[in-house]
Amino acid sequence: MKKVLTDNSFLNEKTLIRTSILSPEKNYKVLDLFHGYGKIWEQIKRKGFKVDIVKIDKKNKDKENIVCDNLKILPSLNLMDFDIIDCDSYGVPFKQLEIIFKKKYHGFLFITFIQSQFGRLPVRFLNELGYTTNMINKIPSLFNRNGIEKFKQYLFFRGITQIQRISINNKHYMGMEV
Ligand SMILES: C[S@@+](CC[C@H](N)C(=O)[O-])C[C@H]1O[C@@H](n2cnc3c(N)ncnc32)[C@H](O)[C@@H]1O
Repeated sequence: MKKVLTDNSFLNEKTLIRTSILSPEKNYKVLDLFHGYGKIWEQIKRKGFKVDIVKIDKKNKDKENIVCDNLKILPSLNLMDFDIIDCDSYGVPFKQLEIIFKKKYHGFLFITFIQSQFGRLPVRFLNELGYTTNMINKIPSLFNRNGIEKFKQYLFFRGITQIQRISINNKHYMGMEV
């Protein structure tokens, strides 16, 4: 039977990538940009980690959510107020990352990167790697191949050389310090 992906598919892997980097002794201020029902951080808290979370989601799934498109609110936030930014998106949170890097955020960053089998990568993301829109449009299959390698290259260009990663097929759960 085909597995249906929900908000919290691979919850244990998402939790593990976070708890393997964080310390249960510290208090963290988290900016959760794709909070949803908050299952990941609920599970992390249950393991004894101390976190204070600003919860954002475009849907009212948790009564404490600030309900809005995170892209609208992100530019006005002082990211230095946070120890952790969580980008547990459905696809590639490229636009959010561009804002985060432009604001020179320092701290922990957790990213979910999913490229569906025939999924296109964002054109502006490929542009950042030096592929022109013309090239991409001519042979899309070539430039949309192997998204995770391209994503690692993108992070490297942003100064990130160490990434913890759990990958399951086309789904990649990552944690890093930036
Ligand atoms: C994979 S789910 C997040 C699951 C969540 N991290 C948890 O622990 O339960 C992705 C969530 O992102 C939200 N979302 C997608 N695009 C968004 C955006 N631009 N701004 C805010 N929320 C968004 C969706 O409504 C969905 O709840």
